[in-house]
Amino acid sequence: MENFHQYDVIVVGGGGAGLMAAMYASRTAKTAVISKLYPVRSHTGAAQGGIGAALGNLEEDRPEWHTFDTVKGSDYLGDQDAIEFMCNEAVQAVYDLEHMGLPFSRTADGRIAQRPFGGHTNNVTGKPVRRSCYAADRTGHMILQTLYQQCIKNQIVFYDEFQAMDVLIRDGKVAGVVAVELATGELHVFQAKAVVIATGGHGRMWEITSNAYAYTGDGAAIVARRGIPLEDMEFFQFHPTGIYKLGILITEAVRGEGGILFNGKGERFMEKYAPRIKDLASRDVVSRAMYLETRAGNDVNGQRFFYLDVTPETVNKYAELDGRTRPDGTPYRVTAEEIRSKIPDITDFCVTYLGIDPTREPIPVQPTAHYAMGGIPTNKFGEVVIDSQNTVLPGLYAAGEVACVSVHGANRLGTNSLVDLIVFGKHSGLRAAEYALGADFTPLPDDPTGYVREQIDRLRTGSGKERAAQIGRELRSTMFDLVGVFRTEEGLTQAMEKIQELRARFREVRVADSGKVFNMELMQTWELGNLLDLALVTTRSALERRESRGAHARDDFPARDDVNWLKHTLAWLEGDSVKLDYKPVVITRYQPKERTY
Ligand code: FUM
Repeated sequence: MENFHQYDVIVVGGGGAGLMAAMYASRTAKTAVISKLYPVRSHTGAAQGGIGAALGNLEEDRPEWHTFDTVKGSDYLGDQDAIEFMCNEAVQAVYDLEHMGLPFSRTADGRIAQRPFGGHTNNVTGKPVRRSCYAADRTGHMILQTLYQQCIKNQIVFYDEFQAMDVLIRDGKVAGVVAVELATGELHVFQAKAVVIATGGHGRMWEITSNAYAYTGDGAAIVARRGIPLEDMEFFQFHPTGIYKLGILITEAVRGEGGILFNGKGERFMEKYAPRIKDLASRDVVSRAMYLETRAGNDVNGQRFFYLDVTPETVNKYAELDGRTRPDGTPYRVTAEEIRSKIPDITDFCVTYLGIDPTREPIPVQPTAHYAMGGIPTNKFGEVVIDSQNTVLPGLYAAGEVACVSVHGANRLGTNSLVDLIVFGKHSGLRAAEYALGADFTPLPDDPTGYVREQIDRLRTGSGKERAAQIGRELRSTMFDLVGVFRTEEGLTQAMEKIQELRARFREVRVADSGKVFNMELMQTWELGNLLDLALVTTRSALERRESRGAHARDDFPARDDVNWLKHTLAWLEGDSVKLDYKPVVITRYQPKERTY
């Protein structure tokens, strides 16, 4: 067979989770990475404010507090065994990154610098704790560069600009992956004993998003089409501070460094919604507060945005009012120069996209679709589980945003995405390699590229009555308006109808470019198909969940309902419909309580 490759472990995705998985798998197994981008362009590079770990470098902190904050932040939907595992591992994971050469910002005495972030608290005082370990506001970028250098040093094989389009499963076991080489349009078959899916999230289905163009849910859609359920897809996080209209992320670290949110009346509105930690409440709470302020007519100029003010005058005034101190007990006061050095990229973004200097003027912000809490169900070793009994599918692993372990439950705390991808990237790689060493190759199915060819042919031979770009626009506005921060039965039902209409119209699309070399029209149309599949699963799961929890806020069911809904959704894509089932949440030490901040 032409274009045939054989590896013990194939990792699909070259972001933080994929690189970690590859690094650890390659220690004992013949490993390669398939990535649709050059790996250092992966979306991990957009993570700004830091990676959470209870190092306690500046004040007392403990992994148990990180665990509890994560459980509470998840609105008690996170699996507590996995959360505890992640928060305990986080500390060593950060030191491992340091030893690999990651250039963390430093404290005056040379230790890794840490800053406060939303929902991270001292569990005794309830006050914000400095837990986020950072490299200015480029933490994800530094992680990506560091890991990629390690992978190159370890001579891991990369198939860059290869788009994975199918995972091959035979007799209930993984057999490999089919990918298209973007430069030639040729299909390649990768036979593998183990496959790790680490393709990231799917935020591009919303109109305003912080997500890269590459975030089209490819890995989740590929496995869903192969009969694997997706877990908790109704929970998608809106980060409160995206640049107005553009969605580009303004890191929570801006608030960690003392920035304050104001409404159109100049009020520090978060005092009303989170009296104790105010602007540093968890993201679901802050995003909802902005929507409620908008409904009350308190947005700026009636234009659905708010001001994030990190000018030294404002930071110093509110630090004094809040009694904020430095670790040595002296009052917290900052200069414009200090702010710029802590958030240099944000300063540049504000200049580039808004023409303002954030140390002189407030930043106009609005909630932006940011992070998928749901995804491919896994256990804490990255093994994909396919039903409510957590049955493992031999040879298939997932890690990072595409996976649902579930450590984020209904709402992720800031900085925990980087913890997740480092910890579970590593463990999925280790497990995949261990499995591969004891397994034989599963024979490939007859005609392994058949299903991919069928998908491509459909896109080339549609009637051409419909245009993919228009369908994409309608999908994004539908999701943003009806499956956004607040949801209702009526809106979700309307969204379901619209998504079904768009799916039908998508079958009439024909790709005009018949070339093979870098046919990005073909690829982007295929990616839109992935988003349409995942939008259907997301909306159906959201319609069914008749309660409000974390990022899923139902106007018509405003209360959390632990009696009926303290459970994970499992959703199977079956053609144009979705089958649902549920599985219990793992509760170990923390019984669900009302969340207050
Ligand atoms: O606000 C931020 O820097 C984003 C971090 C995160 O999503 O964890």
